[in-house]
Amino acid sequence: MSNHLGEGRASLPSVAIIGGGVVGLGLAWRLAQRGCRVDLFERDRLGGGASHAAAGMLAAGVESEPSETALHGLAAHSQTLWPEFAAELETASRMHVELRREGTLRLALTRDDAEQLRFSAEFQRGLGVQLDWLSPAEARRREPALGTQLAGAVFSPNDHQVDNRLVVQALARACRGAGVGLHEEEPVLAVHSRDGLARGVVLEDGRHEADVVVIAAGAWSGAIEGLEAPMRPPVRPVKGQMLALRMDKGEPLLRHVVWTPQVYLVPRRDGRLLVGATVEERGFDNDLTAGGVLALLDGAWRAVPAVEDLPIQEMWVGHRPGCRDDAPVLGESGLPGLLLATGHHRNGVLLTPVTAELMAALIVEGRADERLAPFALARFAGGLAAAGAS
Ligand code: GLY
Repeated sequence: MSNHLGEGRASLPSVAIIGGGVVGLGLAWRLAQRGCRVDLFERDRLGGGASHAAAGMLAAGVESEPSETALHGLAAHSQTLWPEFAAELETASRMHVELRREGTLRLALTRDDAEQLRFSAEFQRGLGVQLDWLSPAEARRREPALGTQLAGAVFSPNDHQVDNRLVVQALARACRGAGVGLHEEEPVLAVHSRDGLARGVVLEDGRHEADVVVIAAGAWSGAIEGLEAPMRPPVRPVKGQMLALRMDKGEPLLRHVVWTPQVYLVPRRDGRLLVGATVEERGFDNDLTAGGVLALLDGAWRAVPAVEDLPIQEMWVGHRPGCRDDAPVLGESGLPGLLLATGHHRNGVLLTPVTAELMAALIVEGRADERLAPFALARFAGGLAAAGAS
C-alpha cells in the first residue's frame, strides 16, 4: 500500500517541517541522516520558543503522574536514548550540550509534603522508577545548602538535565552539517494540499513543495491554516515564568536538580541556577508578573534560604504546547502526507530523541511504531473517554 509516506515510495520523501524548536530540529536531523531532503521553517529564531524557555530536565521519573502511564513509557524510553543522542549530537556539532548526571532530589518540607511524596514515590516505583528515600540528614549530605525545614526527600538517580539552549545550537549545527535547509523568520501561513494530499507549505512569498509536511510548531501548532478542524492539533499555550539566579561557578550552591513542593531548581555549569516555573492559562501572554516571580523566589528560598544572596541574572516567559491530557500528538493527522509532532507540554526536551526516532521511521519506512498509538490525534475525536493516552 502506498500511504504517501515511506511505504510504497520508490525514493525517499522530501519533508517540510513547520517549527524550529528541539522537536522539529531533532526530527530534521534524523531525517537528513537517513537521506531525506528536509526543509525546516521557523516563524522566529530557531529554538526561540519553549526550547529556549525550558529547564532541560530529563525527568521521566519524578515528573510522572498517576494519569500518565503511557506518557511515562515514552518518556522513560526517551530518557534511555538521551546519553547516546547527546554524544552523537556533540560529535556532529562539535560542541558540548552539558548533559549532567547528578540525579534529582525531590524534597518534602513538611509532614504533609512527606506523606504526599511517599504516595507519588510509591506510584513511580510501581512504574519501575528507581527512587531512594532520604532522611533530612542524608538529603543535606548531598546538598548542604538545603534549609532546616526539611521532612525528607527522594533521590532519583536517573533523572538528569541537559542545557536546552546548547541543545538548540547543537541541533542547528548538526542539521546544517547534514544538509537540512533551515529557514529562520519564515512563517508558514498554511499547509498546502491538493487532491486530498498535503503537498507542501504556503509561505509569505510563495509555496514550498514537499512530499510530507510535519507540524512541530509547539504552542503555535494550532494556528497553521489550511486544515479542517479535526486535523488541527488541539494545542494551547501554557504559560510559564522562570528566572535564573547567578551562583558562584566554582562553588555552586546546588549540584543536583532539586524539586521543592513549589518550584524546581536546576544548577547549570555556567553558574546559573534556574528556578521554574509557573503554570498559567493566559494564552500567549508574555508578561512577567510580581506574583509569578514572588512565587518562584519564595519557593526557592523556603528550601534553600541562601538563594537570597544570589543576584538575579535573567527572567523570562515561555509557552508550553499543551493538549488537554498533557500528552503529545504524534503521527498521522487524517490528511495523507501531513504528520504531527507537537503538544510535548512539559516534556519537549526529554521527548526529543524518541520523537525524532519514531517519526523518522514513520516517514522513511512508513512504519508506525506501536509506541506512537496512544498519542494519535484520533484520541480527541470522541472526547477524552476515547483518548487512551493514560
Ligand atoms: N518541564 C518543566 C516545566 O514545564 O516547567
